[in-house]
Amino acid sequence: MESMDVHTWSRPDLVRIRHLELDLDVRFDRKILDGSVTLRFDPTAHDELVLDTRDLEIHSVENAAAFKVGERDRILGAPLRIRLSPGSSWVRVVYSTSPQASGLQWLEPPQTAGKRHPFLYTQSQAIHARSWIPLQDSPAVRVTFQGRVRTPAGLHAVMAAERAGEHFEMNHPVPSYLIALAAGALEFRQLGERCGVLAEPPLVDAAAREFADTEAMIRAVEEMFGPYRWGRYDLLVLPPSFPFGGMENPCLTFATSTILAGDKSLVSLVAHELAHSWSGNLVSNATWSDFWLNEGFTVYLERRIVEKVYGRERGEMEAVLGRRELDREMANLQESDRVLHIELEGRDPDDGCTLVPYEKGALLLRTIEQEVGRERFDAFLRSYFDHFAFRSITTADFLDYLRRELPLKTLLDPWIFQPGVPPGAADPHSDAFERIEDAAARWQHGQQVDTGDWTTQPWLHFLRMLDRPDMARLDREFHLGESGNSEILHQYLLMAVRAGHRPAFPRLIEFLNSVGRRKFLKPLYTELMKTPEGERQARQIYQSARQGYHPITQVTLDAIVGGE
Ligand code: BES
Ligand code: ZN
Repeated sequence: MESMDVHTWSRPDLVRIRHLELDLDVRFDRKILDGSVTLRFDPTAHDELVLDTRDLEIHSVENAAAFKVGERDRILGAPLRIRLSPGSSWVRVVYSTSPQASGLQWLEPPQTAGKRHPFLYTQSQAIHARSWIPLQDSPAVRVTFQGRVRTPAGLHAVMAAERAGEHFEMNHPVPSYLIALAAGALEFRQLGERCGVLAEPPLVDAAAREFADTEAMIRAVEEMFGPYRWGRYDLLVLPPSFPFGGMENPCLTFATSTILAGDKSLVSLVAHELAHSWSGNLVSNATWSDFWLNEGFTVYLERRIVEKVYGRERGEMEAVLGRRELDREMANLQESDRVLHIELEGRDPDDGCTLVPYEKGALLLRTIEQEVGRERFDAFLRSYFDHFAFRSITTADFLDYLRRELPLKTLLDPWIFQPGVPPGAADPHSDAFERIEDAAARWQHGQQVDTGDWTTQPWLHFLRMLDRPDMARLDREFHLGESGNSEILHQYLLMAVRAGHRPAFPRLIEFLNSVGRRKFLKPLYTELMKTPEGERQARQIYQSARQGYHPITQVTLDAIVGGE
């Protein structure tokens, strides 16, 4: 098991950055960030500091003997090699970003909810921080930082850090993938003692209602797994083009507006991003091959929060949905991607972002819980978060600690290194879903079903149980094409594409043009590409929708639909 990070040019074993100070202008007029970063490190005998960059324009490096930008690698970007002056402990890089920076999305006013102001946000995970800050872009390197950000009048800048007067401060060491910035027309609503929500004015009240249980969620995790150590916990609602559901930027989770369903049915995403404050932000994966340590633990914690705040049935429904989607996705993955510790040499770490680290990872923890009992497992997790707090660890570090603290009968190596779900795995079950399965069978036999009290989870399960359903009848009885719930609408559209159901296509086109969430777009385009007629449509839709997608989404979809 390799523990070196293959996704950085930097050599933190030789010189290690400890602290950085960002000073940036947000130039909406040119779609660039312009300014400097001061990097501080322990004085070293070594005379070279190597930083990661991607598409940055380096204007100068202060307090250094010389610098040179090396050749650009398609995945890693280009190394910035800085010759250090003897005995020095800092350098300042003066730079600007490219309008195409992979970690930035610059939105025009029409792409926002308010339609009047532009919007900018960063997405640094996995290796995109280097496209807006030259740094040692490895999750094994943790830094404290300060940020000063200037925006045009009327627009607010926020960073995932603590606000300290005119600037931002992060006084806990964090990996670079958690450094984040956003700017736009934003309004704030307080939700609880230490939490609140930021959103564009037209969305902020709906967001405050949807996220009203956030403080209860924080208390739930604290009771189970120890104190929240990051001060405030705020949420930032991003426009629907955000490529993910959520991103666990410390103190300030970024979340897509597509989870504002009106009935809190999609807030497990908040539970998820909040849980990262323990699994991921407090204890971080040291390399992208260890990504399952972040996501598997977090899905496990997410379900425990959902169970505590919304009841056992909801948690179990989500666990069953997760297990079924895992099996579905795994069937299309190569064997080497069905293991928890995945080989990424020569690959983009975003390729490793399948349901395997999430759902197989969570299932391993649930299996261990089942063996040792919840009480002992919770005590183990609390001590794990304490023991490794503010550190980045590998899968081997976890296994050593687990074997020392919690001797098990469950064999761990098959989970970590072999494809698929080993025998003896925990098997989530939902009684409510048994009734949904009955309903699906009856509906397919032509009977009517009463869907009156169904929330998102029963709907998703029902729809996924149907085998080549009569789409016209589905429309007549349920009108799912008019659903304001992004998960239900997405599931419906996916079925419509599979069935070649033309009446749904205007809605499909609208969805593909307004939503940028990769999890939704990838299956829809993939399904379209399966027939010649669908392929023609996919290309046509993508041609106009592409420029509204985030650079990360563009890369994913270029591979499916074909580039510009
Ligand atoms: N940290 C991830 C998002 C991520 C992963 C960004 C890898 C870049 C590379 C975040 O916590 C996450 O997992 N988001 C999920 C939602 C969650 C409820 C499963 C998403 O965006 O769908
Ligand atoms: Zn996550």
